Amino acid sequence: MNFVGEHILSVAQLNRADVEEIFAVADKMTPFAHRERVTRVLDGAVLCNLFFEASTRTRLSFGAAFNLLGGSVRETTDMESTSLVKGESLKDFARVVSAYSDVIVMRHPIDGAVAEFAESSRSPVLNGGDGSNEHPTQALLDVYTIKKELRTRKKGLDDLRIAVIGDLKYGRAVHSLIKLLKLFRNITVHLIAPPVLSAPESVITELQKAGHEVRHFEQLEHGIQGVDVLYMTRTQEERFSSSAEAREYQGLFRINQAVYSQHCEPDTVIMHPLPRDSREAAQEVNVDLDSNPNLAVFRQSDNGLIVRMALFALILDVVNKVEDYSTQVGWFTDARKWD
Ligand code: CP
Repeated sequence: MNFVGEHILSVAQLNRADVEEIFAVADKMTPFAHRERVTRVLDGAVLCNLFFEASTRTRLSFGAAFNLLGGSVRETTDMESTSLVKGESLKDFARVVSAYSDVIVMRHPIDGAVAEFAESSRSPVLNGGDGSNEHPTQALLDVYTIKKELRTRKKGLDDLRIAVIGDLKYGRAVHSLIKLLKLFRNITVHLIAPPVLSAPESVITELQKAGHEVRHFEQLEHGIQGVDVLYMTRTQEERFSSSAEAREYQGLFRINQAVYSQHCEPDTVIMHPLPRDSREAAQEVNVDLDSNPNLAVFRQSDNGLIVRMALFALILDVVNKVEDYSTQVGWFTDARKWD
């Protein structure tokens, strides 16, 4: 696709060449994300961050990515502080906000609401997560992370073996990830979930139709053997009819150092879109794995910054100008550690 001025609403818009282009631009963004250099290429541009659900990573990394390219960020973090609560339609809202912004990121609790908003927006819209439907930029940063992690193990995205674990019904990050993996060759996906939280049939069928292998498991110990990547997820409590119902599934699948040592290959990468649920009843990724070098969850969230900078640069057509507007900064210090 030609990214310039385009909405990014679903990973279904992307082919393999598009994904590789995003990753190549992301690599170029790394010195800017790491503050080795500063660029003002988006000086004067405005991002509107419209987040109608809780977020740490997506909202702040989109905002920081735009700032690191020299742009300014305006944001709203709940529906109640907008005139949507006065009955304003998404259509009117989009028409108004898109005049104030050069690009918009929206997170919304309803499936399809971001796409509906985008129809009336005069600025490009990026989907920051819509209900349990999709989270396309999370999938891009996940696949970028898998690629980087496996490179050190002399493997690539083709022939990937991945176990995806937990709430596969409501997990929008998982839906986008599985759809995106379809673009690569000879993928094996182990889906580990109770039947009631299994991935939507359409997502599974798409993968199978593309010739990939899908295997279903209900036991964590069986499904995590013989894979390159474990992708753990949180029970999406906010999508259940009650917290009590969600609690039935929290803690069902837990990975800790003992389980990892017993059942996984020694260099299996451990991923999670975060937030991990650290409450006693859940703990799907135990903190005793924090010292395991294969735990990639924070490298994953770091990569969100780089990938989102790349998307802004592509959509606003400044990829080839980033260097021209760049300088070194006095406050950069080598002492700041990046993995
Ligand atoms: N992974 C992710 O979407 O995190 P946030 O909900 O904190 O944005």
